[in-house]
Amino acid sequence: MAIIAKKCPQYQVKIVDINEARIAAWNSNNLPVYEPGLTEIVESVRGKNLFFGTDIDASINEADIIFVSVNTPTKTFGFGAGKASDLQYIEKTARNILAASDKGKIVVEKSTLPVRTAESMERILNNSGKGISFQIVSNPEFLAEGTAVTDLENPDRVLIGGHQSEEGRAAVEEIAKIYANWVPRERIITTNLWSSELSKLAANAFLAQRISSINSLSALCEKTGANVDEIANAIGKDSRIGSKFLKASIGFGGSCFKKDILNLVYLCEHYGLPEVATYWENVIKINEWQTTRSVKRVLRSMFNTIANKKIAVFGFAFKADTNDTRESPAHMVVRELLDEHAKPVITDYKALADAKRDLNDVIDNVQFSEDPYEAAKDAHAVLLCTEWKQYATLDWQRIYNSMSKPALIFDGRNILDGEQLKKIGFEFIGIGKA
Ligand code: UDX
Repeated sequence: MAIIAKKCPQYQVKIVDINEARIAAWNSNNLPVYEPGLTEIVESVRGKNLFFGTDIDASINEADIIFVSVNTPTKTFGFGAGKASDLQYIEKTARNILAASDKGKIVVEKSTLPVRTAESMERILNNSGKGISFQIVSNPEFLAEGTAVTDLENPDRVLIGGHQSEEGRAAVEEIAKIYANWVPRERIITTNLWSSELSKLAANAFLAQRISSINSLSALCEKTGANVDEIANAIGKDSRIGSKFLKASIGFGGSCFKKDILNLVYLCEHYGLPEVATYWENVIKINEWQTTRSVKRVLRSMFNTIANKKIAVFGFAFKADTNDTRESPAHMVVRELLDEHAKPVITDYKALADAKRDLNDVIDNVQFSEDPYEAAKDAHAVLLCTEWKQYATLDWQRIYNSMSKPALIFDGRNILDGEQLKKIGFEFIGIGKA
């Protein structure tokens, strides 16, 4: 919404939420989300045509277009628990929109939703007997965290789905007009509602599948003496495959991949396609296996005992350039270290506050440090879990000197120069390297 406000001064953008603390944070000098470039954009438009508030009903009534961006977590109870999306917030929002509206509007699904959610919104909004009508449009978001601003300013594509009726097409065009202020028309794709909803799940499933594919081969590389970075480079040069999302890692994290694939799995099961469901479910299984097997590998090279040993965990965010820790592989690593009675010390450039919250139940057994040098001091091992580029340029000799010996480095993101580290004296373990 901040980018829309920035690119389209002729639109008034109002963001509302029931969470007063969050809205207050968005109105402050300390935004609740770390995202490179975002603060500057918010500051340049806030109070001009971008506003944050909690007056939900009045804002609904004033609006011509409503983007619904509420949470759709994986269901934890009842039918579909662990896989299906919990749509209670979407439904509440639809009922709220209906109750507060005196005139019809375009309602845009921005949250990632299971296919055919638009149908349930539609039933609530357009069967009320209130005499006003709404158009439901799907406009899934493809930005990645850490690069959100550049992804939004220069998207590969914008996808807008709507009903194939005359009113539906007009609503889609109304949304396309917003993006056309900065996105070339040929990158604005319009489809029917269901294609748009399913495309988001499909895009994330394909991206995650690439990581699980390369990670599955990383295990084979370790056994055979092949090097997974060399494989990724060699296959990525094939233009049909391409080079992106082939970076072997300790596993993918984030709020989207796992949730969306589980959603896809649920959908396949629901439509009686168990083979398809199993196919996609294995993308997630390989991912979890990649994290646990990596920790086991580290354990083996530390004489199978890390009890009471200080272990430095470099990075807790699910990827670099974000403070987001949702589904972060580092979190899983720390839990496994604790199971082995190790003493983890966590360092991260942006995610320590979230790390403390996530580890609240075991907080007495974990330490935190803003300073990687401090975190590594007296540690038996450094486990690099997040690809912060700062880690590649640390003074590793200094770190080596301060650590317990033998000093081990596990590079869970393959961003360090292993040969150089071995010269310093480290024992080095990389992903997909014998
Ligand atoms: C993803 C999609 O990329 C985005 O289009 C969608 O809108 C939301 O979900 P995001 O979860 O923010 O975005 O981050 P992404 O850059 O896709 O990374 C996801 C995870 O995969 C991270 O943990 C990252 O470190 C990992 N990853 C990514 C790898 O392990 N290897 C790679 O080659 C790329």
